[in-house]
Amino acid sequence: MKKTIFKGGAMLAPVPPVLVSCGNETEKNIFTVAWTGTMCTSPPVTYIAVRPSRHSYRMIRETGEFVINLVPESLTAVCDTCGVKSGRDIDKFNAFGLHPAKGQSVQAPLIEECPVNIE
Ligand SMILES: Cc1cc2nc3c(=O)[nH]c(=O)nc-3n(C[C@H](O)[C@H](O)[C@H](O)COP(=O)(O)O)c2cc1C
Repeated sequence: MKKTIFKGGAMLAPVPPVLVSCGNETEKNIFTVAWTGTMCTSPPVTYIAVRPSRHSYRMIRETGEFVINLVPESLTAVCDTCGVKSGRDIDKFNAFGLHPAKGQSVQAPLIEECPVNIE
């Protein structure tokens, strides 16, 4: 098969968008992340790739915590919008009717409306 050589870049697709929540009691935020997945099952290790320019980046660096929330169909549009609006400008929990819930292992809030929350 003839190969086409592309300039270097991250081109794997499709990617599963999730809602990532972060922060603590004082400040919290949500943003959309597609660059996520499994690194290891034993021990269980996951990852997210976050641009330093994101409002969430500092919170995650400072707390060392985040939650991956899987997105139900009913929140598809919210997931899209959380990926274009910044927590610098709006409170995304309030704006989109999402409720923070207490986790078991981290201070970062879970999103109550999401059925699966990976702390
Ligand atoms: C479908 C989708 C996937 C995204 N995936 C990522 C990602 O993997 N990493 C990232 O840093 N930003 C990603 N973004 C962009 C951020 O979600 C977006 O810049 C967001 O507004 C950042 O919010 P914040 O400034 O409140 O942290 C994605 C956006 C969309 C719409």
